[in-house]
Amino acid sequence: MVTTRRILFVCLGNICRSPLAEAVLKDLAGPDSGLEIDSAGTSGWHDGEAADPRTIAVGRRHGVPVTSRSRAVATEDFEHFDLVVAMDTDNRDTLLSVSPPRHRHKIRRLRDWDPEGPGDVPDPYYGGPDGFEDNFRMVSRCCRALLDEIAT
Ligand code: 4NP
Repeated sequence: MVTTRRILFVCLGNICRSPLAEAVLKDLAGPDSGLEIDSAGTSGWHDGEAADPRTIAVGRRHGVPVTSRSRAVATEDFEHFDLVVAMDTDNRDTLLSVSPPRHRHKIRRLRDWDPEGPGDVPDPYYGGPDGFEDNFRMVSRCCRALLDEIAT
């Protein structure tokens, strides 16, 4: 049986969706889960930056601290992580194109775990605050299902 212990969430900028997924799964799993949870971006556009203030704010409204710093995904990530979870189909396809072939099976979309059906976590960057609230709800229900699957 394959044990999933290391999980990497990936979006484009690593300042909105994937830092939120990282924070939500850490919050759901708790400090003693034994899971390693991280996030990265397919771009390095915001390297070293804190998450978008709107991401931090939506986390705060729901009691979930968002503390990550942006970084670009690296080739070693595909070796290190057991699961590489893309926020949307574009991210997934970018990851498939840069992953060493032997690790491609680790790449999934977060909404593959969505009880309401698969799809993309929409990019909220150019939209209003509602997009961040929608992201929070979507990411939370997917992370709950993901955690259920890897905890059983
Ligand atoms: P994320 O959102 O991929 O969820 O972090 C974005 C952040 C920044 C940009 C696009 C999307 N950008 O164009 O800088």
